[in-house]
Amino acid sequence: MSTVAIVGSGVIGLSTAYELLSSPNLKVKQLHIIAQHFPGESPISHEYTSAWAGAHFRPFPHRPETFESDARESKYTRLTYKRMREIAAHFPESTIEFMSGIDYLENPTLEYDGQSPGFNATSLEEFVELPESALPQAVQAGFQYKTYCLNAPEYLEFLQNQVCRLSRARNVSLELKRMTLQSLSQVFEICNNCSVVFNCSGRGLQFDGSYDVKSFGIRGQTLLLQVPHDTKYKKLTVTHQDKNGNWTFVIKRPGLHGKQARYILGGTKQVNYNNVTPSEMDTTAIIERGRVLFPELMVQNKFLVERINVGFRPARVGGSRVELEKTSRGPIIHAYGLGGMGFETSFGVADHSLKLYGQTLGLAKL
Ligand SMILES: Cc1cc2nc3c(=O)[nH]c(=O)nc-3n(C[C@H](O)[C@H](O)[C@H](O)COP(=O)(O)OP(=O)(O)OC[C@H]3O[C@@H](n4cnc5c(N)ncnc54)[C@H](O)[C@@H]3O)c2cc1C
Ligand SMILES: *[C@@H]1O[C@H](CO)[C@@H](O)[C@H](O)[C@H]1NC(C)=O
Ligand SMILES: *[C@@H]1O[C@H](CO)[C@@H](O)[C@H](O)[C@H]1NC(C)=O
Ligand SMILES: *[C@@H]1O[C@H](CO)[C@@H](O)[C@H](O)[C@H]1NC(C)=O
Ligand SMILES: *[C@@H]1O[C@H](CO)[C@@H](O)[C@H](O)[C@H]1NC(C)=O
Ligand SMILES: *[C@@H]1O[C@H](CO)[C@@H](O)[C@H](O)[C@H]1NC(C)=O
Repeated sequence: MSTVAIVGSGVIGLSTAYELLSSPNLKVKQLHIIAQHFPGESPISHEYTSAWAGAHFRPFPHRPETFESDARESKYTRLTYKRMREIAAHFPESTIEFMSGIDYLENPTLEYDGQSPGFNATSLEEFVELPESALPQAVQAGFQYKTYCLNAPEYLEFLQNQVCRLSRARNVSLELKRMTLQSLSQVFEICNNCSVVFNCSGRGLQFDGSYDVKSFGIRGQTLLLQVPHDTKYKKLTVTHQDKNGNWTFVIKRPGLHGKQARYILGGTKQVNYNNVTPSEMDTTAIIERGRVLFPELMVQNKFLVERINVGFRPARVGGSRVELEKTSRGPIIHAYGLGGMGFETSFGVADHSLKLYGQTLGLAKL
């Protein structure tokens, strides 16, 4: 029986807690989740990335320059996909909806050939390359596959509820502690008999209180749309990459308890641009591209914008870090730096982290 601390209550921290409590082999007596931000807060902090996400699963072919991390992260997405299937089947309140996904590329790089690892018919359900006749103007390549969308804020609440429910069912004493940690060493003061600390702090909070120097934010501004009428995007999520490097995407946010769905129209990918205020220029550019690519989402020739979202994807040079570090205070398992993929990799990251934890306990295989 052990005491476990998880730093962070975003999709990574909560998925780790969920899988920890779901694992029959890992016996936990006490679980501390320590975070500055939890699901359900209003207003949502710009530092709490998870609540700002789309979120959908958009697979990608491995790029030659980052093949190693792509292969690892792509594997996380496939495991997550399976888990999302199970959860969607059992828990409608998770908001996960399976549907078609399409990628359109005006200027596809070589690895978008429909065969490459991570992006082909053997590794994705219902994967097809679209014929030229089905491509919008100026698009050189298009791919369709099965994917899912979810309502990020509602999904986070679902995860937290599951963590509470499982703690009760397994007689685990759960403490959700809202605080800003000055450093990681503080965790060991709060949890003085911790057998492990999971570092799911997004940007990688360090022992000395700073963050991982390899971490950086990628700003994402998106529009939350009301779409009162029926469109094909009820069952379809689309990502369009133009030849200038602009990304335009539509992601359904399924509604709960009969509430109308919303749609995310995005978006920007701005490296090291830290402005939390919605930029009017960005909004105008998104609307201009959306008008051409997704006109069905408009009402009387206008998008009904309910809110402008600004979030910061916790990226990291060299890719995400999922790693065991042995310190004099005890083992730390790092699980951060998932960039724009925290939801689609969540259960894969949790699985990897818990395997590392199992190793520290001398469990060879989980
Ligand atoms: C516009 C946009 C669209 C996106 N779309 C998608 C998508 O379609 N699919 C997808 O998979 N991903 C998407 N993402 C990315 C996804 O949101 C992130 O990868 C994910 O949220 C990262 O989760 P996390 O748990 O690592 O970090 P976070 O959600 O940021 O959580 C970090 C946690 O650590 C806590 N914390 C940090 N520092 C401290 C401290 N010092 N003391 C105490 N607590 C601390 C925070 O309070 C928080 O609880 C999108 C992101 C944006 C911005
Ligand atoms: C700390 O944990 C270990 C193993 O989990 C247990 O044997 C020990 O009794 C605990 N000590 C305290 C003070 O709780
Ligand atoms: C398809 O992708 C999978 C998973 O990345 C990879 O293992 C496999 O080699 C790829 N298949 C082909 C035919 O390239
Ligand atoms: C639950 O845990 C508490 C404290 O660890 C213990 O006293 C109690 O006997 C446990 N109950 C069951 C049903 O295991
Ligand atoms: C989190 O990750 C950072 C980045 O490497 C690390 O330096 C820090 O010690 C970690 N914090 C915790 C609490 O594990
Ligand atoms: C996006 O399109 C605009 C023109 O609307 C252009 O100025 C910009 O360079 C493009 N690329 C990126 C990455 O934003």
